[in-house]
Amino acid sequence: MDGLRQKVIAIAEAAGDIMLTEQDVHVDTKGTKENYVTSTDLKIERFLRKELTSLLPGSAFMGEEDGTSGDSADPDRPMWVVDPIDGTANYVRGIPMSVVSIALVKGCKPILGVVRHPRLDETFSAAEGEGAFLNGKPLHVSERTREHCMVCTAWSCYNKTRAGLCFDVSQTLYGICEDIRRIGTAAYELCLLAKGSCDLYFEAFLAPWDFSAAACILREAGGCIITSSGDLDCTRPSIVLAANGTGNLEFLKNVVREALARHPEAKINIGF
Ligand code: IPD
Ligand code: CA
Repeated sequence: MDGLRQKVIAIAEAAGDIMLTEQDVHVDTKGTKENYVTSTDLKIERFLRKELTSLLPGSAFMGEEDGTSGDSADPDRPMWVVDPIDGTANYVRGIPMSVVSIALVKGCKPILGVVRHPRLDETFSAAEGEGAFLNGKPLHVSERTREHCMVCTAWSCYNKTRAGLCFDVSQTLYGICEDIRRIGTAAYELCLLAKGSCDLYFEAFLAPWDFSAAACILREAGGCIITSSGDLDCTRPSIVLAANGTGNLEFLKNVVREALARHPEAKINIGF
């Protein structure tokens, strides 16, 4: 997989350059006033669809903006799962926290992930069984105990009926852990867990393109990540829980279970 990882890194870096250099960006919204899409999202996704599907002929492709192409129902067929810009609201507002996220998923699991933060010149990457890297240097999660965790989270900005659940989880974690960050790009936040800068993560809901690449990176860095089923499914939207290790993941599962019992309006079924 190393040769493929290097080729995907080159493609992600070229996509990041488009994010940095694009002029006269057209901004639109989709669904809700908080959910932006720009001409740059569309341009990068078109570039990635072409480059990645020709890198692996026969592969399927799922992108945030233009949907799925190829036979995504066949579990043996590898599928690229791509967010051209994760952190589009940051991009629109000039907050320098947006990444390109590229995963290769097979049978619901991520087998390769690349997350490119062009403004920081950071490229996170991993392939299953081969470790996780930031600009070529190996990554490992932290060993912090729950009292010393930095939590990354968000409050369901595109579907605020789940905000009560998210604030409830935040309140519990804020009382026990050190502090909370909401950076506005789930993929990068999960990479911060892989790097050992942050330690716990919760969000309801994320789409596969938000978390699949970083899930591969985090697992290869020694971290844990699950979706609603209690396992990891990179083919459907889900709540996402992640931690620097199994002990803190169990702690987070309990916090989420108890908050869900208090928030039936969130309408989330879990298998853990
Ligand atoms: C969003 C970001 C944000 C998270 C949202 C995602 P987008 O992705 O990752 O941090 O809170 O749930 O949808 O819309 O910028 O691609
Ligand atoms: Ca996006």
